[in-house]
Amino acid sequence: MTSLIEQAAQRLEQLKQAGVDVGPATPAATSAAPAPAVAPPAQPAAAVAAPAVVTARSASDGHSKRIDLDLDALTAQGFLTPQAPRTVMADQYRNIKRPLIRNAMQKGASSLNHANLIMVTSALPGEGKSFTSLNLAMSIAAEFDNTVMLVDADVARPSMLRMLGLPPGPGLLDVLEKEADMASVLIKTNVDKLTLLPSGRAHSRATELLASDAMSALLDDMAKRYPDRIIIFDSPPLLLTTESRVLASHMGQVVVVVQAERTPQSAVQQAVAAIENCPLKMVLLNQASSKPGSGYGYGYGYGYGYGYGYGETDGAGHAGSGKA
Ligand SMILES: Nc1ncnc2c1ncn2[C@@H]1O[C@H](COP(=O)(O)OP(=O)(O)O)[C@@H](O)[C@H]1O
Ligand SMILES: [Mg+2]
Repeated sequence: MTSLIEQAAQRLEQLKQAGVDVGPATPAATSAAPAPAVAPPAQPAAAVAAPAVVTARSASDGHSKRIDLDLDALTAQGFLTPQAPRTVMADQYRNIKRPLIRNAMQKGASSLNHANLIMVTSALPGEGKSFTSLNLAMSIAAEFDNTVMLVDADVARPSMLRMLGLPPGPGLLDVLEKEADMASVLIKTNVDKLTLLPSGRAHSRATELLASDAMSALLDDMAKRYPDRIIIFDSPPLLLTTESRVLASHMGQVVVVVQAERTPQSAVQQAVAAIENCPLKMVLLNQASSKPGSGYGYGYGYGYGYGYGYGETDGAGHAGSGKA
């Protein structure tokens, strides 16, 4: 009987043999504890969190919003939340986030440009970018001294607000169009350290805006204004359009989500090649699960095998397992 983690490790091994640089495979957490069952497999996406209360708060900036996320509903859907009990998944995210946080918080002259900007992408749609982004954000928000902002930058297929059971609202695109200022579209939450930046209203030039000079200026401002804040970008896939590559070129770190047993190796290779110049890359194997019909495991399970692929193209020596 092969555990989800072992399968993930095997898959990483296959990728490595196919020439994809995924770094040393680090089997996540322990495979001894069975992953707890989550939402029934038949309707993973159907469960919708109860609408949260959206209140305009008279905060110091006069107009920042605050919402209460329905944490019980999110937990029931299989997302990490601060109140969730210790699970295999929580442990796995703890391992995944550690090098990301460490790299993000590196200080000093040699430190990486925009190290606190972390892009979550994949070769193709549907590989778990949004799922991973939210869980990573939750996991980092649970960390004592880090605040985190989750940005829905998959402007053509936004899903953050829906995933959280929230109604559509203004966001990134409106800021880029100068129709709203940043403070007015940010949403504070009942997860203390977590702030949300939605993608904003649907826009015919959404993808061009994402690759625009205005976006790069905004990213630079975000990286520098909040150097102690980790900003996670749920981003478009790399292989269908080009804006994701442009976005990647402004990010300090890039996490490439690979859906176990689904993403073709050639797609993974192309995706990694597309972000060749990004100094820090990590490949995360998502949804490693047993083959359908094998009668074992969680058909809709969450095994996270992952490997760190820290390519060091800048020669600055920011290795994943380097300075603590
Ligand atoms: N590890 C996982 N465990 C359970 N469900 C997952 C996992 N990864 C992704 N999903 C589900 O698969 C679907 C597609 O994932 P999503 O994150 O929306 O993909 P993407 O953002 O890459 O298009 C969603 O319903 C999501 O909840
Ligand atoms: Mg998505």
